[in-house]
Amino acid sequence: MSWWPHCLIPTAVTAALLAASPAAAQDTPDFAAIAGTFEENCVACHGGEDAVLGLRLDSLDGVKRGSENGPVAVPGRPGESELVRRIKGISEPRMPLTGPPFLDDAQIADIESWVAAGMPGTAAPGPEAVAPPRHRPAPGESVAWSDVAPILMKRCVKCHTDGGLRGRPPEGLRLKTREMVLAGGERVAVIPGNAGASELVRRIRGQSRPRMPLDGPPFLDGDEIRLITDWIAQGAPDDSGRRAPVPVGARVRFEGVLTGRWQVDGTPVTVTGGTRIDKPPRVGDGVEVRGTVGADGSVLVQRLRRR
Ligand code: HEC
Ligand code: HEC
Repeated sequence: MSWWPHCLIPTAVTAALLAASPAAAQDTPDFAAIAGTFEENCVACHGGEDAVLGLRLDSLDGVKRGSENGPVAVPGRPGESELVRRIKGISEPRMPLTGPPFLDDAQIADIESWVAAGMPGTAAPGPEAVAPPRHRPAPGESVAWSDVAPILMKRCVKCHTDGGLRGRPPEGLRLKTREMVLAGGERVAVIPGNAGASELVRRIRGQSRPRMPLDGPPFLDGDEIRLITDWIAQGAPDDSGRRAPVPVGARVRFEGVLTGRWQVDGTPVTVTGGTRIDKPPRVGDGVEVRGTVGADGSVLVQRLRRR
């Protein structure tokens, strides 16, 4: 993620690209002309106080300041600018990390000519300075997908997406959209209405290991964990408040501490005559649970094992 070797593109090629780009035909490129592209494709991760790598693309100052590794753009030298190299895929991973789709040719050309022109723009306060801080639902209030999406985007999607930092999404779990979060991967990670048995919640709390995000600490803060927990407890609703269906019959697997007969970390699970119990656990023991989701969102345990 550091500075890459300089200038692999011959200047002639760059010049040809510039000449062909629509923005080059216009008078002078201005930050205002590309701010929308950043807003739409980058700011979900590279915006705000907790921007990924400290790189804020939500204001001219932020772009000029660069990341914790240093500047990402050199005025007048797009070929040496990590910003340009990332959107073209010359440096990897290519940005936006959520791609494909990546930026289209015209958007790339506009950013390239803006850097080539010396990164001009009026240093007006960025949207973050003007917009009021995002309202977060207080405990007890309804939580919508759009309240939790920014947390997943900044802290989780970098690995849990196709072509993320780990190549394939770990355990097949993609976390980019609500549909993906609900679909889960090899198992479901979210049981709407049953946060305690949802592996996604258990992982961010550290009840199932390894704790997520895998690159923590820092892990999520208490407020972020509460928001995600409440969202799932409330049925993982979309932005119009519609609850997600319970994925009846889907497979789940998690580990935790047996806190009663039968509950794991305080969450009741259904153990029947058909449950296979290996190495019979006692209350206080660490256990692994495999099962399926029942019609009411409870976990029907197929196999319970002391760890
Ligand atoms: C899903 C979150 C996400 C999105 C969306 C995203 N990025 Fe990134 N970006 C990252 C992560 C994570 C890294 C660090 C990757 C690595 O290990 O190099 C990164 C690294 C970068 C870097 C390198 C910074 C440095 O100092 O090495 C640049 C430049 C960059 N992104 C620009 C962009 C641009 C431009 C967009 C939009 C077109 C974008 N990113 C969209 C997550 C994202
Ligand atoms: C640096 C990469 C990385 C980041 C960032 C990351 N994860 Fe993971 N995640 C992994 C890996 C690798 C695994 C598989 C680990 C294992 O269980 O051995 C995993 C596993 C999981 C699982 C278990 C899936 C299952 O079916 O067992 C869940 C749930 C999960 N992550 C959620 C999250 C959440 C939520 C975040 C953000 C708060 C997050 N992850 C951030 C790499 C990451």
